[in-house]
Amino acid sequence: MTSDFSPKNIIVTGGCGFIGSNFVHYVVDNHPETHVTVLDALTYAGNIENIAGLPEDRVEFVHGDICDADLLDRIVPGHDAIVHYAAESHNDNSIADPEPFLRTNVEGTYRLLEATRRYGIRYHHISTDEVYGDLALDDPARFTESTPYRPSSPYSSTKAASDLLVRAWTRTYGLRTTISNCSNNYGPYQHVEKFIPRQITNILTGVRPKLYGEGLNVRDWIHTEDHSSAVWTVLTRGRIGETYLIGADGERNNLTVLRMILGMMGRDPDDFDHVRDRPGHDRRYAIDATKLRTELGWMPAHTDFESGLRQTIDWYMENRAWWEPVKAKTEARYKAQGQ
Ligand code: NAD
Ligand code: DAU
Repeated sequence: MTSDFSPKNIIVTGGCGFIGSNFVHYVVDNHPETHVTVLDALTYAGNIENIAGLPEDRVEFVHGDICDADLLDRIVPGHDAIVHYAAESHNDNSIADPEPFLRTNVEGTYRLLEATRRYGIRYHHISTDEVYGDLALDDPARFTESTPYRPSSPYSSTKAASDLLVRAWTRTYGLRTTISNCSNNYGPYQHVEKFIPRQITNILTGVRPKLYGEGLNVRDWIHTEDHSSAVWTVLTRGRIGETYLIGADGERNNLTVLRMILGMMGRDPDDFDHVRDRPGHDRRYAIDATKLRTELGWMPAHTDFESGLRQTIDWYMENRAWWEPVKAKTEARYKAQGQ
């Protein structure tokens, strides 16, 4: 039995990051009955511009840290749900310096769960398919909700830890929670440290794209708007205490995606550099979203990856002022790592 929940006043943590801000836009555009409070610390990955121009009577911004329990006591009362996106999200950064990942992803989730417990509201936890580790390239298997946890990187291990906290708090304290684990997102507002925007903006700034290793690693791409509609579906109709995997059957290897970008931007297919591989690099992610599709009736809208990628390239071409201020610093960090 699915449950129906009509949130009127939600907190979206990390609502100035890539996926969180796309979710805020999605709620504003599709659910006029719901007010959003964005709680975001504006780390290097957060940008207030991502939610600029949204109506003030629909979206309120609170600048703050999810680890700040006093702040949570001030803002949580009056809300009926927390949708928790805030995280340190980049694998390469977690390999260079894991500490902020422990703090934000583990302690931050703990603080939010405790606030959820104090005020008896709903909690939806945004997580990743990386908690399941990786699959072999020649294995037809895909991740399901019952795949054992086997994270590989400091980032994914902190996300796995946060999922386990949610499950323990749900069972022990009777919290009303749901969890979703999604595959790789693409679309507007993604930081230029991530694979697709890094290659697009490299080409736009005259830098050769950088492919880790041979580029045979497979990611299961989903448009971020489809992630948003799936999260809304789980939040409003998902069963309490359940986990739902989110994916849109978008498996492609990195070399294929890079060659698509090069082709769409009028470059030669070999106009890129192979660089040092990521230590412990997960080979393949693949999501089986049968539970979400059959139990809750969710369907992705962006099923044509080529057209979604083209729109994403256009967005970075049209929004240079959004990414140019952080591009040189991001590339300098990669260069220092040999990537
Ligand atoms: P992002 O790095 O683009 O954004 C993270 C946001 O969280 C930023 O706005 C940042 O300022 C904020 N933040 C960081 N630490 C904070 C703190 N201590 N207090 C308050 N705010 C803080 O991340 P993203 O790619 O949008 O990912 C969002 C969520 O989705 C994460 O939980 C991530 O694990 C999950 N996820 C991401 C993907 C993907 O493909 N990017 C896929 C599946 C799941
Ligand atoms: O699967 C969901 C995860 O997807 C999320 O949990 C993470 O928050 C998100 O960052 C993403 O993780 P990945 O490590 O898969 O994404 P990234 O964009 O860093 O890399 C995608 C693939 O591209 C990966 O195989 C590494 C490769 N890569 C990455 C960069 C930045 C390159 O070949 N070259 C690059 O320059």
